[in-house]
Amino acid sequence: MAVELITRYAEEFLAEGALESISGEAEQAGALVADGEGEGSAFLGWRDLPCGYDRGEFDDILRTARKIIADTDVLIVIGVGGSYLGARAVVEFVHSQHYNALPKKTPDIYFAGNSLSPDALNELLTLCDGKRVSLIVISKSGTTTEPAIAFRIFRKYMLERYTPQEAAGRIYITTDREKGTLRRLAVQEGYKTFVVPEDIGGRYSVLTAVGLLPIAAAGVDICALMQGAVDACAAYREPCFEANPCLRYAALRNLFYRTGKSVEMFVSYEPSFAMMNEWLKQLFGESEGKDGKGLFPASAIYSTDNHSLGQFVQEGSPILFETVVLFDKPKTDIVMGVEEDDGDELNYLAGVEMSQINYKAFQGTVLAHNTGKVPNVVLRLDRKDEYNLGWLIYFFEKACAVSGYILGVNPFDQPGVEQYKKNMFALLGKPGYEASKRELEKKLGL
Ligand code: PA5
Repeated sequence: MAVELITRYAEEFLAEGALESISGEAEQAGALVADGEGEGSAFLGWRDLPCGYDRGEFDDILRTARKIIADTDVLIVIGVGGSYLGARAVVEFVHSQHYNALPKKTPDIYFAGNSLSPDALNELLTLCDGKRVSLIVISKSGTTTEPAIAFRIFRKYMLERYTPQEAAGRIYITTDREKGTLRRLAVQEGYKTFVVPEDIGGRYSVLTAVGLLPIAAAGVDICALMQGAVDACAAYREPCFEANPCLRYAALRNLFYRTGKSVEMFVSYEPSFAMMNEWLKQLFGESEGKDGKGLFPASAIYSTDNHSLGQFVQEGSPILFETVVLFDKPKTDIVMGVEEDDGDELNYLAGVEMSQINYKAFQGTVLAHNTGKVPNVVLRLDRKDEYNLGWLIYFFEKACAVSGYILGVNPFDQPGVEQYKKNMFALLGKPGYEASKRELEKKLGL
């Protein structure tokens, strides 16, 4: 299995027999996912997606990505939440956080429509100047305020720069198959479209066109990414506690929650994992944070954050456990050299690979945090590549669904997010929200 679940740094913090005692619940939760009989099962499309995705659309994604690569200097990807995080997470993990600055044959990629900051949008408009620009707009509902505003502004920009026909050839829309404002606009303007499957929620959608088109446009091997997910899908199919690490990880999270931990800190020793951490925070936060329940998902990149959050983790409120995603091999390495005068006193590391030093940082940290009574669950993968990432994404999606059912919540809805969106519409005066506007303004003292 590509993901090895290591529990030796976590189990000492659990009562004897705790894991066995929750195994039945975990298997029941796993069966709810497998049989599609749990709450929210209308949104289980991600579960078998890797084995049954639309090959025609996949080939179209590859073709479109090749076109974008050939005719684009700057690709603006517009979307928010589940329509944004997965794509950015994969691009930055596979390439780098510095993807745009590194030499490459693929376009620079910037993400817009994930905030309402005019400064952020104006910056992106400025850096498009003199460049060949394309847009990918992603919104399942087609009505979310942040991407809708960004698209209106970028659409105007495109029409000022290109003829209507040229602009239409540079705008790609990923949205619901039939309904929504974005679908209507795409049909009206003749934009090329891709589909967000109805039975897949935003945070589970990275392996659909939502994630795959921008990911492929960044030159990431989406065939290998999907193959990792295909193999994970097969490996985690059976809801058997002993044989299925997704169930064991889901069980561990719930056990720590029951023993009073309220925060799960996702940790990596690779800075390129930072956006994957953000994706994880949405996946688990939106899936489990409801009905007054759920672990708060936080994140850290070590050893960077050893020098900021490390103090709290080691000796602060005993509220958290850590889930560490560890990669054996980096994409490249650096061997420490010898210097004659040893002015920096680092000759004791001569001949040592930097990846080994990073691994010692992991070992030192995990032992220190254990001493501080912070349990560490470790997920170990051998290398940082598309195949392993596809596997890891599927692992987390499955574990999250199972974990939500163990917790007793519907892991596939997000009523809290909907509430905020409705309030925004009302406060901005969107037609149809008049009564709610008056009520909210009263609360605000307006
Ligand atoms: O996971 C979710 O459902 C949300 O984060 C959505 O992805 C996010 O709100 C964007 O919604 P939409 O794709 O409809 O614009």
